[in-house]
Amino acid sequence: MKGVILAGGTGTRLRPLTNIINKHLLPVGKYPMIHYAIEKMADAGIKEVLLVTGKHSAGLYTDYVGSGREWGVEVSYKIQEEAGGIAQALALAEEFVRPDEKLLVILGDNLFEDSLSEAVIEFNDSDGNAHVFLKQVGDPHRYGVPVLNGSRIERIIEKPKIPPSDYAVTGIYLYDSRVFDMIRTLRPSERGELEITDVNNVYAEQGLLTFSMFTGWWMDAGTHQALAEAGARLLESEKL
Ligand code: DAU
Repeated sequence: MKGVILAGGTGTRLRPLTNIINKHLLPVGKYPMIHYAIEKMADAGIKEVLLVTGKHSAGLYTDYVGSGREWGVEVSYKIQEEAGGIAQALALAEEFVRPDEKLLVILGDNLFEDSLSEAVIEFNDSDGNAHVFLKQVGDPHRYGVPVLNGSRIERIIEKPKIPPSDYAVTGIYLYDSRVFDMIRTLRPSERGELEITDVNNVYAEQGLLTFSMFTGWWMDAGTHQALAEAGARLLESEKL
């Protein structure tokens, strides 16, 4: 099982902080944001991680993360030249993942409490194709929102005006290596990006998208308020 952390993008919602530094290097609690995704990978037993970053602040990632030795993982890097969407960033991992391997993907701005280790072991040992983690939220219109049908997801609607459920599809995904074929079939969305929700919907259409629920807290730290709240939670949980 390989790990991919996506830390490209522009971070416009966190300006002016992101005028000088990439979003995923901003301090949250005791560490730069990127620290937590690597920690989650290590906790899940992943040994090889690809970190996809933009050009902005790219050198600072190597300054902080280095080879990954601090976490006991081997980190390599890819640059996403322009922010063409989450799925476009993920496509850069194709050579990193063998056809017979599966992958855990974490969006670098997702901060959360649950351990991924059980789900990762289960998915790796199963014939699962794609799996997402859901969290009940008060403001689902800010996220990808699932239409649920028993143990399957029928489809996901990205940032719906009228959410079909009160769950957010979090930015943590498990895929088989066919995900790269799925990405090749995508067309850019209205906002000009290759959307991860469209990838997930290809699996969902085939009845292949499973899910589990996060029980602990989860935050998309992409706004000033969420960043501050996530920092407070992390400080609390680390009892610093
Ligand atoms: O946080 C969960 C949400 O993340 C999901 O519910 C949505 O379905 C999913 O589309 C995504 O929505 P956002 O609007 O929050 O995505 P954002 O553009 O903020 O990008 C999230 C992360 O993905 C960001 O931390 C870095 C990475 N990214 C994003 C883009 C657009 C890249 O690596 N490259 C990119 O081009």
